[in-house]
Amino acid sequence: MPELRVIRKYVEREDSHTLKSYVSSGGYAALNKALKMDTEEIIEIVKKSGLRGRGGAGFPAGIKWSFVPKDSKKPVYLCCNADESEPGSFKDREILEKDPHQMIEGIIIACYAINSHKAYIYIRGEMPYGAAQIENAIKEAYQRGYLGQNILNSGFDIDISLYRGAGAYICGEETGLLESIEGKKGEPRPKPPFPAQIGLFGCPTIINNVETLACVPHIINNGPEWFAEIGTPKNTGTKIYGLSGCINNPGLYELPLGITAQELIDEYGGGTIGGKKIKAISPGGSSSAILTADQLDLKLDFDTMAEVGSMLGTAGVTVIDESVSMVKVAQNLAHFYRDESCGQCVQCREGTWWLEKMLREIDEGKGSMEYIDIILDACSQMRGTTICALADGCAMPVASIVTKFRDEFEEHIKTGQSPAERKHYMGDWA
Ligand SMILES: Cc1cc2nc3c(=O)[nH]c(=O)nc-3n(C[C@H](O)[C@H](O)[C@H](O)COP(=O)(O)O)c2cc1C
Ligand code: SF4
Repeated sequence: MPELRVIRKYVEREDSHTLKSYVSSGGYAALNKALKMDTEEIIEIVKKSGLRGRGGAGFPAGIKWSFVPKDSKKPVYLCCNADESEPGSFKDREILEKDPHQMIEGIIIACYAINSHKAYIYIRGEMPYGAAQIENAIKEAYQRGYLGQNILNSGFDIDISLYRGAGAYICGEETGLLESIEGKKGEPRPKPPFPAQIGLFGCPTIINNVETLACVPHIINNGPEWFAEIGTPKNTGTKIYGLSGCINNPGLYELPLGITAQELIDEYGGGTIGGKKIKAISPGGSSSAILTADQLDLKLDFDTMAEVGSMLGTAGVTVIDESVSMVKVAQNLAHFYRDESCGQCVQCREGTWWLEKMLREIDEGKGSMEYIDIILDACSQMRGTTICALADGCAMPVASIVTKFRDEFEEHIKTGQSPAERKHYMGDWA
């Protein structure tokens, strides 16, 4: 499957982040086109393209936009989710730093389609360079009349503000993000009501991921059929896959949705370091259930991953080779989610804490056999029972690791030490 660069086409240009470079490669032509269309027509085009959200859940973008009430007496908001804090995910960062105007153009078109005159870009606190690039791009867009009053003489007004987070993973969850913009603690809200009805400051709000919005100008320029022909019938367009872990060529690869994990690892990742056997992969960021070596011929798309009990998530693929301790991998994950839980739900606050504790004790040779079933039971009680999906994001990978590598856990408990060659954390490759 050939690399198909749409969003990443110009990232190697030294000045790719500038308005000059963007406009010289056809940038903002889609906005000109969109402003002459009826708003409903734009929503229909996005629906027809099959574009699904790139932030994790894969929800169809056009359908989400259509949920905004047409006759809203309140202002409508759009929030671009640039929080990208999922371990194993680093695709949005490149767009923010190297080619931010396509995302800004996507935001303006989306705002026009949903009749919103105010958008926020919520960027992760640890991305100061990305924030500076965005600030500069917003300034350039105002200077050239793509933002502000009566843009391009269309009669449409639109303002964008950049909002920097303070380093909490939970503020990437869409309602945690809204709370954070409102100046409150980033604690997710129960749903319903969904943000499209009651979102930011109690007003209808659409939240979309950076990559989702960056796809929009390309769909308007090339047509929905062009986009829908890329990938598989229900998983359309290109996807930026992020490859990391025990791999020779880690990095970002933009490919039609539906490449197999094996192709991604062999053809683009150059195989594993030292040619070691693959033990497992995490297919869609740390919150996804792991796949084992016999599942590498599966398509990395939303539906195939859901069918096997995992998810495409952010398509951040982490490769784990035979030398790595799976107890350590599970412990590392539980540590992250325990640390990032906002603490509102008992199942999450207590569940992540107990998972980390039990996994740490197993790792230190202090665990007992009954821990395995207690961990699996705790995971099942954490799933689908909380305000947001962070608890599931911990329970899914941990349960899949313990279930699929139960023998390794049992041996570790029996002997008091890991049978794996590498006993350290998944990220410490040095
Ligand atoms: C704990 C948690 C963290 C999340 N972090 C992000 C994030 O950093 N960026 C993102 O786009 N979506 C993140 N999401 C998903 C968002 O809630 C939301 O579904 C997404 O921004 C919608 O955009 P999309 O429809 O374009 O995918 C997170 C979800 C959860 C549960
Ligand atoms: S699941 Fe966890 S992170 Fe999400 S609202 Fe509940 S306690 Fe907070």
